[in-house]
Amino acid sequence: MIAIIGAGRVGVAAAIYISMMELDDIVLIDIIKGRPQGEALDLAHALSILGKSVSVTGSNDYKDISGADIVLITAGFPRGPGMTREELVAKNAEVVVDIARKVVEYAPNSVNIITTNPLDAMVYLLYKATGFPRERIIGFSGVLDSGRMKYYISRKLSISPASIEAIVIGQHGEKMLPLPRLSTVMGKPLTEILSENDVEEITKETIQAGARIIELRGYSSSYGPGAGLAIMSEAVKKDQNKVFLASACLNGEYGYKDVCVNVPVVLGKGGIKKIIELPLNEKEKQLLDESVDAIRKNIAQIPPKYLG
Ligand code: APR
Repeated sequence: MIAIIGAGRVGVAAAIYISMMELDDIVLIDIIKGRPQGEALDLAHALSILGKSVSVTGSNDYKDISGADIVLITAGFPRGPGMTREELVAKNAEVVVDIARKVVEYAPNSVNIITTNPLDAMVYLLYKATGFPRERIIGFSGVLDSGRMKYYISRKLSISPASIEAIVIGQHGEKMLPLPRLSTVMGKPLTEILSENDVEEITKETIQAGARIIELRGYSSSYGPGAGLAIMSEAVKKDQNKVFLASACLNGEYGYKDVCVNVPVVLGKGGIKKIIELPLNEKEKQLLDESVDAIRKNIAQIPPKYLG
């Protein structure tokens, strides 16, 4: 069973993709009475219409995640008008710690993938608050960022995103690090295929993609995260050993410790099987250092009582 905590836009989008793929039965959990049940009922009707044979249920009771082997944590608040980033960290830290306790109690062997922002700091908090091995704590970031980069490259080259490998590492935020030199089409680096201007435009569009969606429709992205959560869940469920970009808690990899950051990982049964170290040049490593510093600043904003 796959448990999805947070029956908001991201959680429901994930439930739709996962159920269409018939990966597993789903339980949606939310604190708002009626919301997860209502979303589940609507989706269950859709599955009945499409003849899909998985069940989707909704609940406000964490007992109902008992036995889940994958928990997708999509609960939390976006930044509201006039709200500082520190206030958002404190608010979402409270949500994540509350959920962490419930997951430890009811799904102690689960692989967890979290989307709550500020992402890398919340991954770190989830890691500390659950005490789970780092293999089972995964932050959802790079699949979205690199998926977006692929989209922008694809538009420039008129080549399918399926034939493009785009790599974005670092913080899930303004300090993310698209890597055009290591992004390729049939082994050819982007920097050799496109002009400097085009590469710069793609990099900017990738970094600003999330903000652009909010600007256009008034709220943050959900289909991209939903789709990404579905393919990552599939990799874990089917033990695919596929490589994804995701926020992982590092213990010496890339020269960092005690921080969680977006890097390539191999996902299969049990979660992260391997962290892949990219051959970064000096400039790229320096930019990654800056990105990691930004994450450490977010982590420092977590009220110490939650890190206990
Ligand atoms: N337990 C369960 N659900 C909770 C809790 C909690 N402790 N706290 C909040 N929620 C629920 C809310 O009731 C809401 O239904 O989380 C849901 C969040 O849904 P949305 O507001 O639609 O937010 P969404 O766009 O789905 O984003 C969720 O992921 O991408 C990130 O920045 C985004 O942090 C945000 C999270």
